[in-house]
Amino acid sequence: MSEKHHHTEYLKRFSRWRIIEHQANAIVFSVLGLTGLAQKFHDASWAQWVIMNLGGIDSSRMVHRTAGVLFTILTLQHVLVACYGLILKKWSPSMIINKKDFTDAIDNLRYYFGMSERPARCDRYDYKQKFEYWGVVVGGILMILTGLTLWFPTMVFRLAPVLPGQIIPAAKATHTNEAMLAFLVIVIWHIYNSVFSPEVFPLDTSIFTGKISKERMIHEHPLEYERVTGKKLPDSHHPGSETEETELEDASW
Ligand code: HEM
Repeated sequence: MSEKHHHTEYLKRFSRWRIIEHQANAIVFSVLGLTGLAQKFHDASWAQWVIMNLGGIDSSRMVHRTAGVLFTILTLQHVLVACYGLILKKWSPSMIINKKDFTDAIDNLRYYFGMSERPARCDRYDYKQKFEYWGVVVGGILMILTGLTLWFPTMVFRLAPVLPGQIIPAAKATHTNEAMLAFLVIVIWHIYNSVFSPEVFPLDTSIFTGKISKERMIHEHPLEYERVTGKKLPDSHHPGSETEETELEDASW
């Protein structure tokens, strides 16, 4: 009697470049957060430990600025590659915020309060993922502009002499507070969603393997599933236990 194997079917979610980009961003952001926050909270014992182990305040600042340059390159290439792909129609604008994101958020609230039967049916990225993505892009550009202002204050006035002198303390306040905000969003929101959320615990591996289970895809991104497979989902779909692995074209940004 042959034993029946139950394998999960996987769909491709991220290209290799997206995976490398995410890991590079995670490393560079961690270095920036650690070396930046150690300077902000320099009286704390953990901060002194970090600074001493990096060889003192001068080398800690050097590490922060070097990581800042890498972060700037990563952000610039991301924006340029995104625009290039969108203009040449190499991928669909799946991160653009549209009216459906707002109605999806309301639909989900109604669902969580027991006022509707089913949650919102989302596409490749849901409204929470778009919110986080744009927070990273806009926040990242803000960190770059304010970081460069703190690094080259005299250059800022040479390039734009009309700017008031308060621009330097304003850049410092923005840089340091946005750093706290970004750090808390990553630690509380992003780590919860990718590690501790019951949907993915103990780890959402999709950004390492580039794949997502068919079950999760149907549950979290039903519209994308229908679009890329050409299959219409029944209202109450319970994914079976099929064996093959499906490779889909990663044509979305
Ligand atoms: C996005 C991630 C970043 C985080 C979380 C971050 C965090 C911080 C923090 C917390 C401080 C200390 C502010 C204070 O003393 O109150 C700081 C200082 C500083 N940051 Fe950043 N930063 C980031 C990106 C950048 C970038 C992209 C650059 C430059 C291109 C940069 C350049 C600087 C400079 C020049 C200082 C002043 C300290 C020094 O002279 O080294 N930072 N950063």
